[in-house]
Amino acid sequence: MQLIETINEMSQVATAAVRRNKTIAFVPTMGFLHQGHLSLMAHARGLADILVASIFVNPTQFGPNEDLDRYPRALESDSQKCRDQGVDYLFFPQSQEMYPDGWQTTVNVSRVTANLCGKNRPVHFTGVATVVLKLFNIIKPTLTVFGEKDYQQLVTIRRMVKDLNLEVDVVGQPTVREPDGLAMSSRNVHLSTEERRSALSLSASLARARDMVAAGARATAPIIADLTSFITNHPHTNPDYVSLVDPETLEDLNVIETGALLALAVKVGQTRLIDNCILSVS
Ligand code: PAJ
Repeated sequence: MQLIETINEMSQVATAAVRRNKTIAFVPTMGFLHQGHLSLMAHARGLADILVASIFVNPTQFGPNEDLDRYPRALESDSQKCRDQGVDYLFFPQSQEMYPDGWQTTVNVSRVTANLCGKNRPVHFTGVATVVLKLFNIIKPTLTVFGEKDYQQLVTIRRMVKDLNLEVDVVGQPTVREPDGLAMSSRNVHLSTEERRSALSLSASLARARDMVAAGARATAPIIADLTSFITNHPHTNPDYVSLVDPETLEDLNVIETGALLALAVKVGQTRLIDNCILSVS
């Protein structure tokens, strides 16, 4: 595996690979890798000739009061994990390399970012879309793999690819969980033992909602009220949103007709966690 820090070198390697008719799979990350990230790499490894991963804690997707400064980092062990997954090139630029003085162009995907995480994190998805487009232009992937854990991010990237006619296939992968159900996240490391227990209220809510829908519940307001009180009955929890939305437009639903995305964002102590699942009506 080759470690690459500069855009120039990464871009040259990618251009040379494209010229040799090699397909490139790309997995973007912010590092502190866990089994969720590694599952994307393992899947991507089987889909193309060359596998590129990136580690870049992207400052533009963090709001002023968010956790950029305490975002966990572990480049040494991350590179070993990438090597073990068969990554060919690990791109890890510095901030100044990606955002040199004078940069001013951003990508704004409007409607699918208006609800859910976009409501309270107004700059977040513009930061994500901008950095992902930059990474696509540098790495020139044939395909890219994203986790369904960040469902709104996946929908946003698919929308950007379609709207800007980018020639990259976007592949989604299911959420990888701890044995007790907690969705893996780099941020879980911040949870105290008690917060870790309360964090299970997110995945438990998904199961609870599935049961309610299986039992015939269709109106969204009572489901949301039930889940919200279920979550807040756990210590240190403060829901940012509990939403049932259309899985494509991400707009709120009043009634579940064919299916819905249940999306949750909950602050547990100081740590903001998200989870989601699709609820289908059979
Ligand atoms: P990061 O949070 O590091 O996640 C990188 C990728 O791993 C994303 O596609 C995310 O959905 C996926 N992922 C995270 N936890 C997962 C889990 N438990 N199971 C499966 N996949 C999981 O998402 C970002 O970084 C950034 O926004 C980025 C796209 C890199 C742009 O900066």
